[in-house]
Amino acid sequence: MIPDYYEFCNSTKIVSGARAIEHIGYELAALGASRPLVLTNAQLLELKVATIVIDALADTDAEVAGVYDAVPVDSSAAVVDDVARAYREAGADAIVAVGGGSVLDTAKGAMIVLTHGGSLMEHRGAESLLGRRAVTFIAIPTTAGTGSEVTSAAVIKDTDRHVKMGFTSLSLLPDVAILDPRLTVGLPPRLTASTAMDALTHAVESVSCVQANPLSDCYAKAAIGLIRDYLPVALDDPRSSKARLALANAALMAGAAFSNAMVGIVHAMGHAAGGVAGIPHGEAMSVLLPHGMAYNLDVACDRYGELLIDLAGVETHAATPAADRGAAAIGAVRSITALLHERTGLPVTLGEMGVQPEQIPDIARAALDDGAMSMNPKQPSYEELIDILKGAL
Ligand SMILES: [Fe+2]
Repeated sequence: MIPDYYEFCNSTKIVSGARAIEHIGYELAALGASRPLVLTNAQLLELKVATIVIDALADTDAEVAGVYDAVPVDSSAAVVDDVARAYREAGADAIVAVGGGSVLDTAKGAMIVLTHGGSLMEHRGAESLLGRRAVTFIAIPTTAGTGSEVTSAAVIKDTDRHVKMGFTSLSLLPDVAILDPRLTVGLPPRLTASTAMDALTHAVESVSCVQANPLSDCYAKAAIGLIRDYLPVALDDPRSSKARLALANAALMAGAAFSNAMVGIVHAMGHAAGGVAGIPHGEAMSVLLPHGMAYNLDVACDRYGELLIDLAGVETHAATPAADRGAAAIGAVRSITALLHERTGLPVTLGEMGVQPEQIPDIARAALDDGAMSMNPKQPSYEELIDILKGAL
């Protein structure tokens, strides 16, 4: 069904392949840049993941203006300002961000500061984020989960107020995203599983959210099929280039889906649980996804039913009566999380991650205030949220 009105934008060029990084010189030149600042973290340098990119840059006409390797796991406005300072001091003309969501979002924050001046905090909620930016940006993800390489959003911590700030603008979309399996073959099994579940949650939530549209649906369904087919392969054979590239593509497609269609109650509860109890995002998604789907089932049954073919395959879809497919899709998600629990130790309850019963009211209150909740197909009461969270405990 075509909505009465919708918008979809993914302006990022995708470069995907077994040695895709080798194309970085061409991409920089095509964008008119020759002095990239490489943005990463010390661990990725130590593991010789970021060095794959730096070595590839050494074989190009570009000259690396500097390497900023101090992006923490949970980046902040102060780090963003420091990256902008390093960019200016190095005389750089592009950012090549190599890392997970934190590194990529830090690059987006730095672009805001470099384009509009001042410090990041001055641009909180500012309309000035609209319009073109002054920095060339190539995003190279080293996990297959956040999809930040094709999303228009950045999440940066306000360390003074202990809250996460969201910045959203189409001007934050990278110019180029490069997917190369050499950057993810070293991910340990549990991180492989949790990041894939984050991507799966982006895809599932995008389909049921109020801004879902035919194009975001295509990306979401393709992402789900890739995760179903290739996550088990990546767990069996972590160095499988084919499986890693498939999961990187799945995360990207799910990112393009939710950047346009948004995410809902699962992310609202996950953000809240992360803030209150400090639990990792991907693991929270894995635990909460079936619970959020069950809450939405009465209004999203048909939409979830469409996903059964991607989640469980053609035969299961064909053998399930149409009216039962939505519930069966939730069952298929539970089967995936049970498998990941068995294979990697990924938790299936909030309690396993240390969430205490007395924290549930705080998580429920924060989830109600989370921006993602407004995109969910139905709005829960505080009491309903308490019940959902207790069910996940
Ligand atoms: Fe997510």
